[in-house]
Amino acid sequence: MSVSRPNIATPTLREPFSAEESRLFSQLDPARLPRHVAIIMDGNGRWAKSKGMAARIFGHRAGIDSVREATRTAAALRLHALTLYAFSKENWSRPTAEIAALMELLDQFLVQERAELNDNNVRLVASGELEDLRPRTRELLEETISLTSSNTGLTLNLALSYGARAEIVRAARRAMEMARSGELSPEELTPELFSRMLDHPELGDPDLLIRTSGELRVSNFLLWQIAYSEFVVVAKLWPDFRRPDFLEAILQYQARDRRFGGVR
Ligand code: FPP
Repeated sequence: MSVSRPNIATPTLREPFSAEESRLFSQLDPARLPRHVAIIMDGNGRWAKSKGMAARIFGHRAGIDSVREATRTAAALRLHALTLYAFSKENWSRPTAEIAALMELLDQFLVQERAELNDNNVRLVASGELEDLRPRTRELLEETISLTSSNTGLTLNLALSYGARAEIVRAARRAMEMARSGELSPEELTPELFSRMLDHPELGDPDLLIRTSGELRVSNFLLWQIAYSEFVVVAKLWPDFRRPDFLEAILQYQARDRRFGGVR
């Protein structure tokens, strides 16, 4: 069976593909691409250590290149959404200097990537308890979200100060408020309606969840939404995650038999 290569038209992907990337692209089935991919970007600290760097922030800084490349790849494949776990609620317990450096990197990313997000028709959104972010970071986030809001291609969703249990509790509170005001009766609450009370339900549930660095944990990420996501664990540390690794993960996804609890 001949499989046509996905239509790649985004400006930043006009650069020549390596032979390996072209081979992987030609193996993809364009009709069965995941609609929404979520990534747990893990291993930045270990990457810095493996390079003999004392500060973990070097790993986070190198991880930005992987964020850019994953976003370009997802946009080029015309995926609907890419959700990246950039900062968890639990990450606030890290040393103050690491948190400050991560927030600084986020600020830089939000300013420096704006033009490319727009060139690639990418809309930025964010999930999580954004009120926890410092005012400057919130301001830059809101600006970039607003500047990209009319883009119609990929939605890049950054999970920031995000914890899935906290998100579920927020949704449960919303449902309880609706019940209290008489808008909703307990019997009317269904899984579908509850899903719509979570952050960015318009993205749909992730079809594919990738975790780098070989760890086999979900770390309080999208617990409700990943009920039927296919899980691919990549041994590489996040700063080493490149386009071929993303394409390999999608190929693994395409080899899975998704039955959603049913039978063939
Ligand atoms: C986990 O690695 C990674 C994080 C806690 C932060 C991820 C952040 C980035 C990739 C850079 C900033 C992102 C954006 C979108 C601007 P770890 O530090 O837990 O690594 P370890 O498990 O090796 O210690």
